[in-house]
Amino acid sequence: AVIVRAEAEGVAINPAIRKSEEKVVDSVVVAELSKPLTAYCRCWRSGTFPLCDGSHVKHNKATGDNVGPLLLKKQKE
Ligand code: FES
Repeated sequence: AVIVRAEAEGVAINPAIRKSEEKVVDSVVVAELSKPLTAYCRCWRSGTFPLCDGSHVKHNKATGDNVGPLLLKKQKE
């Protein structure tokens, strides 16, 4: 498998997915999680990768990109 990582600052990493949305965030609800919410980085800019630390906000402002995290949500009982 080849993993491509956008290293250059100022370069959008989402060229095509749901560009009409301000920020692309997806959620998955899972029954068996220890925490109510975990956010996984999809912008490759997080200082706590693979977890999102909010760095996508600066990246999106600098590049006009709209990338956001993948949220894992614990299913409510
Ligand atoms: Fe990368 Fe939030 S820091 S998606």
